Amino acid sequence: MAQTAAHHAQNWDLRHEDFNDPSEPDLLYDVYAVMRERCPFAHTDTPFLSDVPGGAWVATRYADCLRIAQDWEHFSSNPAAGSADHVVGDLVVMVDPPRQQQLRRILNPYFSPARMKALRPQIAAETDSLIDGFITDGVGDLADVAWRQPGIVLFKYLLGIPTEEIGVCFELTDTALNGTAEQERLAAWAGLYQRVDALVATRSREPGGDDMIDVLLRGEIDGEKLAHVDVVGNAMLLVQAGLETTANAMSFAFHHLATHPGERDRMIAEPDLAPRAVEEMIRYAGSIHGLHRTVVKDVEVDGHTFRRGETVVVNFAAANRDESVFPGADHCVLDRRDNRHLGFGAGVHRCLGSNLARLEFQIGVERVLHRMPDFELRPGAEPEFHGNSITRGYRSIPVVFSPPRRNVGGVE
Ligand code: HEM
Repeated sequence: MAQTAAHHAQNWDLRHEDFNDPSEPDLLYDVYAVMRERCPFAHTDTPFLSDVPGGAWVATRYADCLRIAQDWEHFSSNPAAGSADHVVGDLVVMVDPPRQQQLRRILNPYFSPARMKALRPQIAAETDSLIDGFITDGVGDLADVAWRQPGIVLFKYLLGIPTEEIGVCFELTDTALNGTAEQERLAAWAGLYQRVDALVATRSREPGGDDMIDVLLRGEIDGEKLAHVDVVGNAMLLVQAGLETTANAMSFAFHHLATHPGERDRMIAEPDLAPRAVEEMIRYAGSIHGLHRTVVKDVEVDGHTFRRGETVVVNFAAANRDESVFPGADHCVLDRRDNRHLGFGAGVHRCLGSNLARLEFQIGVERVLHRMPDFELRPGAEPEFHGNSITRGYRSIPVVFSPPRRNVGGVE
């Protein structure tokens, strides 16, 4: 029998099997509610992302998560901060200002809203082509759209990596995050690094391109080109950050709409709702369940004193269910206003790919609603839920819908 939320809250372990139960997708949020209520910072012996001797503190309240995310001078993103350990390459997400800002200046222009918006036709065409794979059958799996569209867009239009690489990069990214043993996870990171290293090496022999890897290869800080490890590390980060996050968030949206026909019909009837609905779905179920910070100077937050060297897990998903900020936080309210969610983080590390993620998500939902407006979960078929991860979502969403009517010469 599953343990109670109160029991889990004493020593939160995201890998616990109870959180993978598809019939209890909300148990984890019930645990967060207890954690938020009991004390500002709970403690876990088993932080998800890496083994930390002595465990870590966990921030689950909105105000605390926001404060910590904004205070890089006390809460470093560098897991080796204050120790002699060295992380290979300066990944923008794992260094602090000023280095972080210098790297960000190289990457930022590439992710501008205008540049992302220009990708709309390509993203729509790629989404349609995935839907074409099953549209005439009247049955399909919407996970095929949610999981493949972000990878195709990222590899083909941003990174300039052959799409044949998506499968292996996805497997490695997935194992690096979700593998059961630390050794297995580290081996997968190393495998992903090698794979991206080889791709970068090929690209550096063919200069002059205009994609993300070229931007990194040309990038300079104080007149010096980025070191090879920094180029590979940041390219690897983009692969990893851009695949599972958006896919999981979109998979939730498809599952939600397939199980809530009234909401699905409302989105069709009110297309202008889409941007707000997408934000709400990210707040409600598409946010990340904990990223690490290392305390570099003793500091007090919310009456709790953090000591130098301790680790804090900032749980954006829990913060986004904080009732004191989001009334009715445990409901997905498609037209929610004042939705200042932390799904994309806050402070200097705020998500670099948020414009891309929003666009992919919105177009994914738009195209599915347009092409299969009456889709619903296939009776008798079980969606496959993956709940033991910092990005939770559905790996399979079997649906039925009315196929388009055929006319002479093709499909309508
Ligand atoms: C729904 C989808 C997404 C969610 C929920 C999400 C969430 C986040 C969050 C919470 C952070 C802050 C990390 C921190 O504070 O340590 C972040 C950073 C980042 N994200 Fe995203 N992300 C998404 C999609 C993407 C995409 C599509 C890309 C790129 C292709 C991307 C690239 C990055 C990068 C490079 C950073 C690090 C920025 C920095 O450290 O300055 N993300 N993301």
